[in-house]
Amino acid sequence: MSSSGIRKPAVLITGAGGEVGHGLIEKLSQSDERDIIALDIKELEPELRGRCAAGLVGDILDQNLLQRLVSQYEIHAIFHLAALLSTRAEYTPDTAHRVNVEGTLNLLQLAHEQARWHGNPVKFLFPSSIAVYGLPNLATKKEAARVRESDWNFPTTMYGCNKLYCEHLGRYYTHHYRQLAKEKTLSGVDFRCLRFPGLISAVTMPTGGTSDYAVEMIHSAAKGQPYDCFVAPEARIPFMAMPDAIRSLMMLSAAPAKNLTQRVYNVTAFSLSAADLRERVLKAFPGAVIDFKLDAPRAKIVDTWPADVDDGPARRDWGWKPDYEADRAFQEYLIPGIIRHYRGQ
Ligand code: SER
Repeated sequence: MSSSGIRKPAVLITGAGGEVGHGLIEKLSQSDERDIIALDIKELEPELRGRCAAGLVGDILDQNLLQRLVSQYEIHAIFHLAALLSTRAEYTPDTAHRVNVEGTLNLLQLAHEQARWHGNPVKFLFPSSIAVYGLPNLATKKEAARVRESDWNFPTTMYGCNKLYCEHLGRYYTHHYRQLAKEKTLSGVDFRCLRFPGLISAVTMPTGGTSDYAVEMIHSAAKGQPYDCFVAPEARIPFMAMPDAIRSLMMLSAAPAKNLTQRVYNVTAFSLSAADLRERVLKAFPGAVIDFKLDAPRAKIVDTWPADVDDGPARRDWGWKPDYEADRAFQEYLIPGIIRHYRGQ
């Protein structure tokens, strides 16, 4: 709340302490237009917490916490980042469903109630994933090449199923909410979703994902630790450097609603095989020891994800273009950033 006692419009970030949350809070805190309300299951690092008007520790399944939150803040935008990622979700699929689906439904409902309360649409930014795709075999994956949003929506993981369903939920809230009610009103939820490729950050490590091998390979090399990559050298998926992920979220959030021809957009920056990644990492850290030691079930998940995605609609509708192609991502962001990060520790 501002010193005048008038509530500033707030932006709520769930999963705020995660790897996307980190960069997003840094970016959003550069402007003081909106208070940042951070919610995470764990206490935020002090530096990050200092950039937010409030840092709440709690669960998105806790209705009391969510009710308390809306009684204190006027929320105009939600970045709903909290989720159990794809590897983690396979160990506890029922918990994953609760967090990823019921948690998202809670937040959509909160967005709807807030919109009704203050009379303005609530933007709901939702990161989805290449995990919503499920290619049946490697021959099909090769042939499919750059998949479009509507292609191959047959996820094999709980996480992928959860994300795909939540994309539909978001579309439902935006366009069809309570379509049979006598007095039809819009829900007020302005749902916007990005299907991210594997994200690579120079400062944070993901927890429980399956594209984690890329991040682990680079960070291990920087720390001087050997690394066994759990997918095959030829396993290929699309990737993006974290600053581009944050930028794409900000761009989609700022896009005029009339420009959006769809609610779910692929975004990507570069497609690399695990062998390509290894080569790039070895170039930067010539002494690194990187071997391949297949973890067949995890490798199989990666094999169902597309080698690349078509992000044409994002480019057309809201001007998406990555800043960091592979060379620039490694030379100007990842390698110097990682070296700085570990030197500073
Ligand atoms: N990177 C995520 C994971 O590996 C997919 O979105 O689970």
